[in-house]
Amino acid sequence: INVDWDAVTAEKGGFAHFMLKEIHEQPKAYRDTMLGRIDESGRRIVLPDLHLTEDKIRSINNVHIVACGTAYHAGLVGGSVIERLVRIPVMYDVASEYRYRSPLITPETLVIVVSQSGETADTLAALREAQANGAHVLAITNVVGSSIARDADDVINTLAGPEIAVASTKAYTSQLIAFYLFSLYLAQVRGTQTADEIAHIIAAMHALPEQVESMLANVDAIKAYAEHIAKHEDLFFIGRGLDYAVAMEGSLKLKEISYIHSEAYAAGELKHGTLALIEEGIPVIALATQESVLEKTVSNIKEVKARGADVLALTHEEHVAGLLKSVDQAFAIPKTLPILTPALSVVPLQLLAYYASLARGNDVDKPRNLAKSVTVE
Ligand code: G6P
Repeated sequence: INVDWDAVTAEKGGFAHFMLKEIHEQPKAYRDTMLGRIDESGRRIVLPDLHLTEDKIRSINNVHIVACGTAYHAGLVGGSVIERLVRIPVMYDVASEYRYRSPLITPETLVIVVSQSGETADTLAALREAQANGAHVLAITNVVGSSIARDADDVINTLAGPEIAVASTKAYTSQLIAFYLFSLYLAQVRGTQTADEIAHIIAAMHALPEQVESMLANVDAIKAYAEHIAKHEDLFFIGRGLDYAVAMEGSLKLKEISYIHSEAYAAGELKHGTLALIEEGIPVIALATQESVLEKTVSNIKEVKARGADVLALTHEEHVAGLLKSVDQAFAIPKTLPILTPALSVVPLQLLAYYASLARGNDVDKPRNLAKSVTVE
């Protein structure tokens, strides 16, 4: 018998590409990253390996989040969640900037570095800069024993498993889960959320894996939309708050593997320049999941629509009918708490990038000019 088999095909486990396999591994990655970090009652976070003492946690008066690429985008969501749940000011920077700008670090600064590989040169250098200035550094990494994991004062491992595709998917969402856990832990120690509030968020986190599964079972509409945008050279993502952070990740994903130029804009900032680029037929993907700013986002959608944009909205089911009055198409994102929505709303954007890359005949797993891990400056 002649069997067509090779090691790489076997590793892809029946998926056409590593990226698609890794997108599908997200529910497991969420569960694995939560495992053992929530106590049996489902009401408390337990992070027993942390060296950060409760006293130290109470003394922190600012947080810096430093990373590159997709990990930086996870940090944008994570920092916003820390601000909301713990009310500590958070500053964000990409590692290549942070390391050279004499950041204002005090012993009360907690620096969080985020890195899938744990080997990114700029992130490692930022970690060292922070430590040299007396900060406690917590790393969120996916590779046990990596340089960043070894050098950091504390580590929260994401349990996404090896990520092979250059475009990061399950590492990003696992980083979000790590941030949710850590933010809740800080809130628990500092008493900024009640036990019931924490339990409520934990319960919603437990539902995320199944919600991702439901989205992955239903990809036809996103695939058709990807084939539509594959013919374009420019597009825009807009959103407010956490939707804006997710828009940035969606835009990066699309650029990396489809080579379609895209920009993510804070929806309210469009009118200060970018609106001039909106012309007849240009695709605009509007993330509209954050209820507190929904009305504002809708008015920004109307601004681009009035200039002829072809708008797709990502929103919750209950808003689909209303939004369809202002947009061309709308896809529903399963309902969860606003702070947790990025862990769901990014999934269709990952699929969009994947199918757009495929439609353009690109090498999905190994895009041109890019490396999985950048260990040089
Ligand atoms: C490279 C990869 C990106 C990744 C970035 C940071 O540019 O192509 O996907 O987000 O490095 O990598 P890290 O391993 O530090 O998360």
